[in-house]
Amino acid sequence: MQIAVTGGLGFIGSHTTVELQQAGYEVIIVDNCSNASESVLDGIERITGVRPHFEKFDLRNRDSVRTFFRQYPNLEGIIHFAASKAVGESVENPLLYYENNLSTLVYLLQELTEKQRAHFIFSSSCTVYGQAETMPIDENAPVQPAESPYGNTKQIGEEIIRDTCCVNPELQAISLRYFNPIGAHPSAHIGELPIGVPQNLVPFITQTAMGLRKELSVFGDDYPTPDGTCIRDYIHVVDLAKAHLIAMERLLNGKNAANYEVFNVGTGTGSSVMEVIQSFERVSGVPLNYKIVGRRPGDIISAYADTKKANNVLGWHAQSTLDDAMRSAWEWEQKVRKEN
Ligand code: WQD
Repeated sequence: MQIAVTGGLGFIGSHTTVELQQAGYEVIIVDNCSNASESVLDGIERITGVRPHFEKFDLRNRDSVRTFFRQYPNLEGIIHFAASKAVGESVENPLLYYENNLSTLVYLLQELTEKQRAHFIFSSSCTVYGQAETMPIDENAPVQPAESPYGNTKQIGEEIIRDTCCVNPELQAISLRYFNPIGAHPSAHIGELPIGVPQNLVPFITQTAMGLRKELSVFGDDYPTPDGTCIRDYIHVVDLAKAHLIAMERLLNGKNAANYEVFNVGTGTGSSVMEVIQSFERVSGVPLNYKIVGRRPGDIISAYADTKKANNVLGWHAQSTLDDAMRSAWEWEQKVRKEN
């Protein structure tokens, strides 16, 4: 059975490709290589023994999208990761984000609604909740006005899918709202490869420990949290990848309760920045060089998931702890640096 993974050379896409292949699916990766390298295919093949089909084109090209669907008429499902995802960049260049993240979604849905049956998983984000009123956050928490064009594209993306499913019963879709994906595959053949200076906490920690960065700046310790630093729900990327496999199989097996569903994907546990640093030092034995600086504009205080719906309806549970994820991130960082 053929499944297409757009953005499949990326961090979550590559890990999801591994899980799909190991479950017996034939995966076609679609990627324009704007934010990931084709060499990720080697890592996937080293883990599974199967090199995914790879189609390199830009989903912003409507004709290329149409051609792709003609080339693969037996596609059973699409998992759509391809998008720009840097919050800060989206503020500086909103049109890049609205074009890249939304036009590509529309083109894919236009093709999918031409098919007799279509199964679609959308990469959404807990960003849609903004600073939620109550913790943990469940799927009924109100979607707040987006703090960035990036977050807005996730909100609008979900609405586009919801409205399309309303009038296309043959389209079966799920949006997965990720919390904070971290870590790497235990084989250390694939992992997170941020381009340039990492924006996210965990790759900045591991690069600092490797001596690539002078020190980690902790963005504020004066928040109303137990240790003053922000709280997030850090989920191992392999747990997140497995959630995509389970969600796709829910659709393929017709187990979904409606033709559009939304699930939070997190661990259900909040961890502060300091707790992440302590976890890293515990698993690596490497003291981390960091300093407390001012708050980062746009940061929310706390976000962690109520995972009851994914646990009870999807039958999915996060298996890995924060230490497991930090250990895998560190092993990956050491391997990448050794090879380059
Ligand atoms: C986590 C915490 C920072 C870096 C973003 C996007 C979200 C998703 C994940 C794509 C915060 C602190 C960070 C640093 C720090 N992306 N931090 N020093 O902002 O929760 O989420 O990435 O889907 O949509 O919004 O993740 O890792 O950037 O920050 O102190 O050098 O670490 O202030 O409290 P974030 P993050």
